[in-house]
Amino acid sequence: MSRKAAEILAAQVIAKPDCVLGLATGSTPVGAYQQLIRWCREGILDFSHVKTVNLDEYKGLKPDNDQSYRYFMNQNLFSGINIRLENTHVPDGAEEDSGKACRDYDRVIEEAGGVDLQLLGIGHDGHIGFNEPSEYFSKGTSCVTLAERTIEANKRFFSSADEVPRRAYTMGIGSIMKAEKILIVVSGEDKAEITAKAFGGPVTPEVPASILQFHPDVTLVADKAALSKWKESGR
Ligand code: PGA
Repeated sequence: MSRKAAEILAAQVIAKPDCVLGLATGSTPVGAYQQLIRWCREGILDFSHVKTVNLDEYKGLKPDNDQSYRYFMNQNLFSGINIRLENTHVPDGAEEDSGKACRDYDRVIEEAGGVDLQLLGIGHDGHIGFNEPSEYFSKGTSCVTLAERTIEANKRFFSSADEVPRRAYTMGIGSIMKAEKILIVVSGEDKAEITAKAFGGPVTPEVPASILQFHPDVTLVADKAALSKWKESGR
């Protein structure tokens, strides 16, 4: 799964060396990032003209906090490839004014010229970025309250669930849907049910990832376990 995802990301960088990649955190993309680092070290990939915009960041965490998504990206990808750090963007978790943080990030995406390829993972509740189940699909960057299920899933990175920030800035569903191409990676049996719902069920903001059924260019890369329930559903 990671190898396939890395190939799709690499193909984008080779086809358009000054592309804009939308990137994601979480455990799922780590293997793909490691492969990209290897290819960059071998001289197969050149990131010197690539720009990146990440999906989300915890509100209240500074970039040097080792639980922040900026720190994660630096550690898991940026420090291993020849990208210019000033070309990499993550919402500013240290900005206390939510309105400003969101407006600023929408401007960053716009000034980058839009996303060529957006990498996504999926949460157990169907979130993409930190867009949690809701009554509507968000348009631009917003400040969200994390669902209990997300806090439970993410507490493994913190000393306790209490340490997980309750708020986050996330790219909106509208912005994600504007990406030219989308690559969603999913792994593990614990994601089987939500994968079946998102791709084989109705399109609803209660399952934010279901909106991807309406995107014209989505590639789902998953392992067998993650696909098991979708196959069973026959849809
Ligand atoms: P994971 O997170 O890759 O760590 O499962 C995915 C997500 O919550 O979007």
